[in-house]
Amino acid sequence: MNTDPIDNRYATGERFTTNLGIWRAAREACTDEVWNYLNCGTGDEVTLRANTADFDKWQWKTPLFAGIGRPDTATQFLGHSLSFPAFIAPFGGGEYMLDAEGHRATGRAARDVGIRQIVPVAAAHSLEDIATASGVAQMFQVTFVGDVGAVVDMMHRAKAAGYEQIVATYSPIRQWRERMIEDRTRFAPGKAEANFGPGLSDPAALREQIAFSQPRWGWAEAREAIARAPLPILVKGVMSADEAKQCLDAGAMGLYVSNYGGRSIDRQPSAISALPQVRAAAGPDVPIIFDSGIRRGSDIAAAVALGANAVALGRAVGFGLAADGEAGVRRVLQILKDEYWTTLGHLGCNSTADLGPHVFI
Ligand SMILES: Cc1cc2nc3c(=O)[nH]c(=O)nc-3n(C[C@H](O)[C@H](O)[C@H](O)COP(=O)(O)O)c2cc1C
Repeated sequence: MNTDPIDNRYATGERFTTNLGIWRAAREACTDEVWNYLNCGTGDEVTLRANTADFDKWQWKTPLFAGIGRPDTATQFLGHSLSFPAFIAPFGGGEYMLDAEGHRATGRAARDVGIRQIVPVAAAHSLEDIATASGVAQMFQVTFVGDVGAVVDMMHRAKAAGYEQIVATYSPIRQWRERMIEDRTRFAPGKAEANFGPGLSDPAALREQIAFSQPRWGWAEAREAIARAPLPILVKGVMSADEAKQCLDAGAMGLYVSNYGGRSIDRQPSAISALPQVRAAAGPDVPIIFDSGIRRGSDIAAAVALGANAVALGRAVGFGLAADGEAGVRRVLQILKDEYWTTLGHLGCNSTADLGPHVFI
């Protein structure tokens, strides 16, 4: 059987062959409201655009006669064996609008293509349910807010369900997402609350968190939660060298460079422009995940070359989920993996470990 990914594009009976096909199908499948939920940023969406546009500033230096074989895309990250260096990013709140199976579907697709997902606390299915659906170890995203003990309890629950790391997030105040405000988008009551349903934990807690009525944490609470956490913590939203140092000093095991895909506050710098300084501040050995703006396998290669150990895929996966549910996500992941493979080869890299700043002009 021919295993060449490009040949397979022609031979395949799959519905989609490239990202372009997925994007078109996703747009057709979504109402305007759902499309805006998935695609919106905040304010004028300057950061949203910069997240993708700034990848274009990094141009490849492609070596002649590099003498490479077929690149190996696989990598290891924090005990997870990944067929390429990617996770599915946590996208919660309204993921059920893209497909009713939500993170159960994305988790199975990730498993099938050989990667893992980061499950959000604000999900339409409980963390136990999502863990059972894929049957593989994943990471769990929890918002650092409210009672420290309740957050620690939630992390214990995640550990008991088989999650291996915690992604800690901080969300200071509601976000000015004009497309959603104009559309009067409201999530169906109870839909993002599977982790807080009756018999699980206090349902009022997440409701209040979503309403942003709880006081936000300072470093003292963050430190305490990290110290009491039963699993290693990666802090998401690190965008500067100073923050990188503060997080590590507070006990974080890893960092997660992200501006939430431009969904928090407009005129933050693009995430890719922040990555090199975070890696420089963290040193070579601290695990770093990167997201915000990854749309292609070549973006994954650029982020790894600039210091990420792995990326997370947000809207790219959302498009697949909207286009064709679980099968659509599987297809997106396969496409990104194949694009990453061809990028490695053209850069003269036999593997992920060969990527570094030398691949840029
Ligand atoms: C529809 C949607 C919902 C999201 N919900 C969450 C969430 O519940 N928790 C979280 O940490 N990040 C959330 N994010 C941010 C993503 O995890 C990720 O940081 C972002 O999508 C990366 O940017 P990209 O979409 O350009 O790849 C969400 C993003 C989207 C698009």
